[in-house]
Amino acid sequence: MQDMQAKLRADYRPADHTIGSVDLLFRLEEHGTQVIAVSQVKRQNPAATQLVLDGDQLQCIGVAINGEALAADRFEVGENGMIIQADLAEFELTVETWLDPANNTALEGLYKSGGAYCTQCEAEGFRRITYFLDRPDVLARYSTRIEADKALYPYLLSNGNKVASGDLADGRHFAQWQDPFPKPSYLFALVAGDFDVLRDRYTTVSGREVALELFVDKGNLSRGQHAMDSLKLSMQWDEQRFGLEYDLDIYMIVAVDFFNMGAMENKGLNVFNSKAVLADPQTATDDEYHRIESIIGHEYFHNWTGNRVTCRDWFQLSLKEGLTVFRDQEFSSDVGSEVVNRILAVKTMRNHQFAEDAGPMAHPIRPDKVIEMNNFYTVTVYDKGAEVIRMLHTLLGEARFQAGMRLYFERHDGQAVTCDDFVAAMADASGVDLTQFSLWYSQSGTPVVEVSESYDPVAQRYRLTLKQHTPATPDQAQKRPLHIPVALQLLNQQGQDLPLLIDRKAVAPVLDLTGSEQSWEFEQIAGPVVLSLFDNFSAPVKVMQPQSESDLALLIAHAKNDFVRWDASQRLLAQQIFAMVEEEQTQLSMTVVDALRAVVLNDGLDPALAAEILTLPAEAALAQEKAGLDVESLHLARKAALTQLGLELEDELSARYRACIQPEYQQTGAAVGERALKNACLLLLAHGGKANSEQLCLKQYHTANNMTDRLAALNALNQGALPGAADCMLAFEQQWRDDALVMDKWFVQVATAANTDVLTHIKQAMAHPAFDMANPNRVRALIGAFASLNRNGFHAPDGSGYRFLTDQLIALNGINPQCAARIMTPLMALKEVDGERRTLMTVELERLASLPDLSKDLYEKVSKSLG
Ligand code: ARG
Ligand code: ZN
Repeated sequence: MQDMQAKLRADYRPADHTIGSVDLLFRLEEHGTQVIAVSQVKRQNPAATQLVLDGDQLQCIGVAINGEALAADRFEVGENGMIIQADLAEFELTVETWLDPANNTALEGLYKSGGAYCTQCEAEGFRRITYFLDRPDVLARYSTRIEADKALYPYLLSNGNKVASGDLADGRHFAQWQDPFPKPSYLFALVAGDFDVLRDRYTTVSGREVALELFVDKGNLSRGQHAMDSLKLSMQWDEQRFGLEYDLDIYMIVAVDFFNMGAMENKGLNVFNSKAVLADPQTATDDEYHRIESIIGHEYFHNWTGNRVTCRDWFQLSLKEGLTVFRDQEFSSDVGSEVVNRILAVKTMRNHQFAEDAGPMAHPIRPDKVIEMNNFYTVTVYDKGAEVIRMLHTLLGEARFQAGMRLYFERHDGQAVTCDDFVAAMADASGVDLTQFSLWYSQSGTPVVEVSESYDPVAQRYRLTLKQHTPATPDQAQKRPLHIPVALQLLNQQGQDLPLLIDRKAVAPVLDLTGSEQSWEFEQIAGPVVLSLFDNFSAPVKVMQPQSESDLALLIAHAKNDFVRWDASQRLLAQQIFAMVEEEQTQLSMTVVDALRAVVLNDGLDPALAAEILTLPAEAALAQEKAGLDVESLHLARKAALTQLGLELEDELSARYRACIQPEYQQTGAAVGERALKNACLLLLAHGGKANSEQLCLKQYHTANNMTDRLAALNALNQGALPGAADCMLAFEQQWRDDALVMDKWFVQVATAANTDVLTHIKQAMAHPAFDMANPNRVRALIGAFASLNRNGFHAPDGSGYRFLTDQLIALNGINPQCAARIMTPLMALKEVDGERRTLMTVELERLASLPDLSKDLYEKVSKSLG
């Protein structure tokens, strides 16, 4: 039986003992792994007479104190660890365990990925390696010796610097690693295997020479260059923007095929999902190039925000994740397109985070109650966490924000701290009162801001009133007003910016909304105003703002701020689709069609931005914005809008499509933007469904010289449900069947194609030789994508989508509970659907709840959904 007890943030107590250093020995054998851990333990709490260690699914071979084996009555091994009788101030503890990495399909602790050994210890995986104080506030110095067969595992890697290596008897060898920085156990890593290595160097700003090593599967060296370039760019950016320098002589990244998440920031030895490393033009899309750059940056930036300063306890996860996501977003934006990166982040919030806030798992960015920590690596902790840091940045400005960062490191380098410590450093360095602001850490849910305006032409005054309220969430009934930074512009009817004057003084374009209702009166306003609120998404809120079609069209055409133009397009399209769902109109109005026509025709507009404006809001985002919409009607209305645009703008789209075609493939910002616009045009044309549009797709599919164009053509054929789709799917499968990473794109296409018997196709695809239920990338590409991206298919009125997902969850529960819990999220959206669907979902949730061996991961989400 698993321990389903929730842990509370309020129950935090410092550990009774600390561990100054630990010497680890790993003997990797073909039938299992022997681990010997020798820890130097010190008592912190003089009253403690027992040492309580965490342990999970371990085979304990022996325990010794100060070199003497412990008699059976001195220690007790249980389901969650070990209790040792030890009334000593200081002692050396030796623990021997035996592991079975080859059968560790949960991919936590030490496991085998293909032919290589690797580890994943965050959050609580180290306790699957040895009995330990497996908590982030216990910082120890690690030295690690690895022994293994030399031919099979020529590379033996761990954290820090390699201090010794050599040959052993029987064709075996060893390596000894020493990490000079004390670290929590979750940052420990070990890798053993055979790889190709891409080597490079980086000289830091103070002249330190760092060896860079990227380990990939044999034959994949050429696919590693982009990751290596991204790493060097990250190192340089962190020096320039944050004044932060790397601190070891070596930085290693290993790409593995079996991995639960994107990547892991282990000190000096990052382990990456191969999907987040490998790229070349033939196999990776522009989106993937971008994602690799951002994840490489993310893990690198953790070296300061996460590793040098870490979390006191796991409730503080956003301390490192929110901050590091903010940093990787700023990196992407500084080295690429600011507006495109902002749009990407906002889509994550609107398509996913708002849904989490509206569902049974709603939690603050600093949760109060957790059953399985792996369930809290969420869009709330990560992405809303980053939005909270961004609001701080908005309130303080870059200079004071950086002063806050310097104070944070000055105070806390080498420590395990809390979110409150971070906010205190920001407040103390800036002099800004953040008392009310800190509520963003403890309050869950998405605030709703209601807008009303009035204009007095005689007095030439414009009055803006904002009301805020946060709907109750299952974890918190009472909500208080938050400190919300409201970035705004007032435009005149020509789209020009108006000066913001209050009491004859110019005011900054960011208002502080702190009460539940507040008004501002702007003076010297000569005529009617077009309001642009929450520029750059200055706060993670929903906005209720009735705005006319013509005002939104004006913002799309004339706003100086690119984000405002995109946001206006999304709001205009959303309003129109809602009107179509509610049968107030049968199609998009001419104002909208013409506004988008102008975008297609405007070759002065950044192509990447134009592509985003021409992309309709996702069904998931629309469903969050307006509750109670019928799933199918929403799907059909959005589709009708796409078809209408494809037909009415056919000439303009075709012309722009042709104008974007480039003679040669390049991986530059400009080329990526042109491809994005070309493919946005193609997608609309495909929805139009004309024969010549299909010809365009087929031609692009067959003549493409890069994966971005090839996949975009395939996707357009599938989304437009065009007859040529099937042949191209077959051709793609023939070409890439042996490359599982590329086949993931094919699996996503199978799962999201707009056909009626999608489940039949998915079940067939599960029998494909490239599919593997034990590989999370495959599972997410086929089953995850169906549940999360094919909203209409998943919510089929007969419940077949729910039943299918549940069958897979039951299979995965025994293989990889973490992966199962990640892909079950769409099954929790009970509140988004009608009563009949809710009943069908409930049946499946109950089927899960009654499983005899339900994992903690699924238990937490299932019980909350039913609760
Ligand atoms: N710290 C990693 C990152 O954000 C995430 C790893 C979490 N892994 C897990 N199994 N929960 O880069
Ligand atoms: Zn992270």
